[in-house]
Amino acid sequence: MFGEIAPRYDLLNALLSLGRHHRWRRVAADLATPPPGGVALDICTGTGDLARELAKRVGSSGFVAGLDFCEEMLLLAEAKPRRRTDGLIGYIAADAMALPLSDSSVDCATVAFGIRNVQDPARAFAEMVRVVRTGGRVVCLEFGLPEDRLRRRLVRAYEKTVVPALGGTLSRRSAYRYLSGSIAGFASPAEVRQMMSRAGLAAVQSVAMNLGSVYAHWGVKA
Ligand SMILES: C[S@@+](CC[C@H](N)C(=O)[O-])C[C@H]1O[C@@H](n2cnc3c(N)ncnc32)[C@H](O)[C@@H]1O
Repeated sequence: MFGEIAPRYDLLNALLSLGRHHRWRRVAADLATPPPGGVALDICTGTGDLARELAKRVGSSGFVAGLDFCEEMLLLAEAKPRRRTDGLIGYIAADAMALPLSDSSVDCATVAFGIRNVQDPARAFAEMVRVVRTGGRVVCLEFGLPEDRLRRRLVRAYEKTVVPALGGTLSRRSAYRYLSGSIAGFASPAEVRQMMSRAGLAAVQSVAMNLGSVYAHWGVKA
């Protein structure tokens, strides 16, 4: 499914979020606090937009690993231009539930709109915690539903109508219908925080964005 939607993935992100998705990724990259010259990991990296944000923060002496199991997505990520002042990004085709990295080998790990799609999210979080050094951060950017009932109805209506309609016109309708269903069927923001704590993260907290439909969750490896 991800291979099929890859060619129009960035275009639909821009249209469906009204251009706001870059800001959400910037917030996630800031929360990850990658040190200059450090090593960052972005799992479920897709077309690499969050990996690129991390690369700006680690700078030219740093390194970012962008990992995804969909090669079509990774090819698009690799084709994107890189500024000389950014860190090098290496893309890895692998499963988020079995990271091919050693324990405590990265300064921070992120995932954007990906954990919902992984078969066993708790295992992916455990893997992120395993590869992050002690004191490093794990950040998860993910959709969620607003607590306020009116906002919730508004967001659900948008996800059920506009998302599959536009996704169907420009890409694959079933994939964008899946997107809407998977958001409603996924863990609540409180449950995501609980999952992250159980994976071994301390001081887990979240910030809500976009009327409470997008959350950045983060915690520190204890
Ligand atoms: C909705 S996209 C998000 C892409 C990107 N992080 C972004 O913010 O646009 C989800 C990505 O997760 C990847 N993915 C899902 N399950 C995975 C797994 N078990 N291992 C690696 N990648 C996975 C898919 O291939 C897809 O590229």
